[in-house]
Amino acid sequence: MKNIAAIILSSLILLTAASCGTKSNTLPVLNLVPAESEAPAEANESSSDMTDTESSLISDTSTESEALPEPSAKESSIAKQSEPERYDVQASDTERPVEASKTESSASEPSRAESSASEPSKAESSASEPSEAESSASEPSKAESSASEPSKAESSASEPSNEKSSVSEASKPEASAAPEKPAPSPQPQTAKPEEADADIPVIKRTRSKVDRIEIEWEPVEGADGYIIHYSTAKSLAPKKCKKLETTGSKITLTGLAINKKYYFHVCSYKKESSGQKTCSDWSRKHSEYLKTIHVIDGVTYVDGILIANKTYSLPADFGDGLDPETYDAFNRMARDAANDGIYLYIISDFRSYQTQNYTYNSFVYDRGVEQADRCSARPGHSEHQTGLAIDVNTTSDYFDGTPEAIWLARNCVRYGFIIRYPKGKEAVTGYKYEPWHIRYLGTQKAAEIANSGLTIEEYYGITSVYQ
Ligand code: DAL
Ligand code: ZN
Repeated sequence: MKNIAAIILSSLILLTAASCGTKSNTLPVLNLVPAESEAPAEANESSSDMTDTESSLISDTSTESEALPEPSAKESSIAKQSEPERYDVQASDTERPVEASKTESSASEPSRAESSASEPSKAESSASEPSEAESSASEPSKAESSASEPSKAESSASEPSNEKSSVSEASKPEASAAPEKPAPSPQPQTAKPEEADADIPVIKRTRSKVDRIEIEWEPVEGADGYIIHYSTAKSLAPKKCKKLETTGSKITLTGLAINKKYYFHVCSYKKESSGQKTCSDWSRKHSEYLKTIHVIDGVTYVDGILIANKTYSLPADFGDGLDPETYDAFNRMARDAANDGIYLYIISDFRSYQTQNYTYNSFVYDRGVEQADRCSARPGHSEHQTGLAIDVNTTSDYFDGTPEAIWLARNCVRYGFIIRYPKGKEAVTGYKYEPWHIRYLGTQKAAEIANSGLTIEEYYGITSVYQ
């Protein structure tokens, strides 16, 4: 009993020295492993299931007792490499090339990390397809006039107004004769390709998130602005479209219905002294599926990826251990790292709701809610509960910049992992930099997201904020 009390007391003292912003590996260390083994066993929880605090302390022990060897020439060269890495990724939806719009379901083969998620079904995808009748509706005509200034619509969240598009209604060509791009009236229709008409914007990049689509086009010389029509209806018939204007060469469509496909096109305009806008033909029509978001049994999947962050929680009974595919990927990575003279090991992987509850409250007890929330997830919000996250080697800030951390950051993507909480992204991920925390996504999605240079939150356009 005395021993248990001593261990608990030691633990409490050491909690105050845990990571979460401090460099805890300079502090005295007690071996908490016996206490860990005396803790009530959690079904299927891995033996390395420990709190960040505990793992930090244990890893600190090993760091001190197994002092890092002097870096070899090989390690030093690894440490010197600092150029951003590009990872091989099959053609995907990361940045959609102009003519490559395709369904989400045609993206990468889901890995086990995604396998339990619901990819959009074919039926779902086609549900948003417009009918043939819609498709045959006419395109808006070229001439649009308005005395009003184009709004600075870039990244605007406001609902687009549709009133100006009514101007074009009277001069629409007959539906049956409507070409994809109506000829600029009164000149006759020409069959020039899009690239040949300097007035027509060429869409060069589109990117979808869960609730918005970013569109970028080549600026048109001499243009005073651009008009964007968008709709879930393939026809882009003016009455079914929403409309935005901008003077820039990119725009974000917001306020979109989730899990839908959107069609859009852009024209440029010149403004006459009267205030009338003379529009070019429409660009080619493009489409984008929004990144899908589904909640199944209280678990959120975005683009087929299980999400656990401050916004999206997990049920208390979710999770039963480290995902086997994640474990295999880690082992392969650790083996290859060892060949490079780098020793990587798991310090913490699956953590149940109950364990996370203990971990989080330990931080709160020690530092208060505000600081705890910067480095420890509240129960039900930790990625460790997904079984797809691993803390590597330590949870001490001293890990940053070590040959192990550098190797991990450079190579983990090839094994399907990303550094989940990168430096400088606390405002979007909700957590301070954790160079040791890796999240398994499978090689395809990990490469896509790593190549984008974005966090999961940024890549999908989701938040990480407690309600
Ligand atoms: N340290 C990470 C944020 C967690 O507690 O899940
Ligand atoms: Zn972690």
